[in-house]
Amino acid sequence: MSILTVLDHPLLQHKLSILRDKRTGTREFRDIAREIGMLMTYEITRDFPLMPIEIETPIAKMTTNILAGKKVAIVPILRAGLGMVDGVLDVIPSAKVGHIGLYRNEETLEPVKYYFKMPKDIDKRTVIITEPMLATGGSLIAAVSMLKAEGVKDIKIMSLVVAEPGLKALEAVHPDIHVFCVGYDKELNENGYITPGLGDAGDRLFGTK
Ligand code: URA
Repeated sequence: MSILTVLDHPLLQHKLSILRDKRTGTREFRDIAREIGMLMTYEITRDFPLMPIEIETPIAKMTTNILAGKKVAIVPILRAGLGMVDGVLDVIPSAKVGHIGLYRNEETLEPVKYYFKMPKDIDKRTVIITEPMLATGGSLIAAVSMLKAEGVKDIKIMSLVVAEPGLKALEAVHPDIHVFCVGYDKELNENGYITPGLGDAGDRLFGTK
């Protein structure tokens, strides 16, 4: 069974097409990345357990369901991952947020950690890693390994676009996680960008190009 779920909801597909379009400017890109983060959370949390409670409506007593105390942490990989955090918080306001900063060592090409700050009880939380572009998979493989080393057991990845080579690499090392995305592209170009992709997600979110 694949670790990938491509979310084909029409609203998500429509919004991703706007992000892919090079004419979309920074402000609109940021707003839509947040909206997609919110809508994807709806699907990603589909397996969260419920528990019954007794309440009273203005009319009568009833038994109804609430979330069974599932604790969530959102972990963006800096910097593009920040673009989806507020969307998740819109629907899970009680979530805590950890951050992972990685850079690539130009000699070894391995990701190197420069920032890692997690909530104290991260090992007891379901972690949603936000990483808009799963390209080679290098950063995500490292990020998942770091979280597992902290004792995290339940890890879900929220991506906008996943490329096949990165997914295969991630699946080979971490077959026990679940990746959610809106677009699935086959290839990377010679610079490691997803093709057709949407360009550099960090630059497009923060207007740095
Ligand atoms: N990072 C990006 O922002 N875009 C890509 O296509 C690949 C990695």
